[in-house]
Amino acid sequence: MEVVIAEQRELTGLAADAVERLVREEPSAVLGLATGSTPMPVYDELVRRHREEGLSFAGARGFLLDEYVGLSRDHPQRYRRVISQEIVERVDWPEEQVLGPDGLAEDLPEACACYEQSIAEAGGIDLQLLGIGADGHVAFNEPGSSLASRTRVKSLTAQTREDNARFFDSPEEVPVHCLTQGLGTISEARHLVLLATGEHKAPAVRQLVEGAISARWPATVLQLHPHVTVLVDEAAASGLE
Ligand code: F6R
Repeated sequence: MEVVIAEQRELTGLAADAVERLVREEPSAVLGLATGSTPMPVYDELVRRHREEGLSFAGARGFLLDEYVGLSRDHPQRYRRVISQEIVERVDWPEEQVLGPDGLAEDLPEACACYEQSIAEAGGIDLQLLGIGADGHVAFNEPGSSLASRTRVKSLTAQTREDNARFFDSPEEVPVHCLTQGLGTISEARHLVLLATGEHKAPAVRQLVEGAISARWPATVLQLHPHVTVLVDEAAASGLE
C-alpha cells in the first residue's frame, strides 16, 4: 500500500494522473467510479484534461461502486445520474459504456448477479476510485460486511443515512436500501485508488493503514491488495503514527 500525504490539489492531480495514464495506454480501459463528495474534484480535473489536453474516454468502460434502491431515473441523487452529470456527459464517454447496479430492478438479487457478470465480461476493473466513510465503509459495505462479499442488497446504517442527508432535501428522503459492490468484488480491481480528506476521516484512515484487518473496519481489506494507492490530506492523515 502506497500512502501519499499531500494537499487536496496535488491529490486530485495524482488521482487524475493515474486515470489518464491508464486510459492513454489502454483506451478501452475499465474504470471503477465512486460517488460521494471526495472524488468530484478528480472528475472536474479529468473533464479539464479532456477539454484542454484531448484526454478521451470514447473507448473506456465504467462501472459504479453502488446505487440507492428506489430512486427514480432522474432523481438528482441517483448515483448513475450523478456520474453522468459529473463526468460522462461532460466528456466524450458514450452513456451506454457506463453501468451502475440497477436500483430500480424488480428482482434486486438478480440485478446484483447481472452486475457482477457485466464486470466479469468487461474483463474486470482496471482502476477503481474509492472514498472511505468515517466508519471505515467502502462503497456501501458498512462495518460487519464480509471481507469476501459480492454485489448485493444492503441496508444503510443510521450513520450513513445521516451523513448523506446533506445531499437530499430532508433526512427522511435518504433511501433505506442500496446495492453495492462487495468487498470481494472491489478487491478484484487491479489498482485501487482511495482518496480521503478532512479530519473526520482520520480514524478510518488510521485503521485502513495501520489497523488489524477486520470486518469492523471494512476498508482494512485493502491491506490484502497488491496495488493500492491511498491519497490523503494532512487532516485525514493526522491519526497515522
Ligand atoms: C460512494 C461510496 C461511499 C463514499 C463514502 C465517502 O460511491 O461508495 O463509500 O465513498 O461514503 O463519501 P464522501 O466522499 O462524501 O465523504
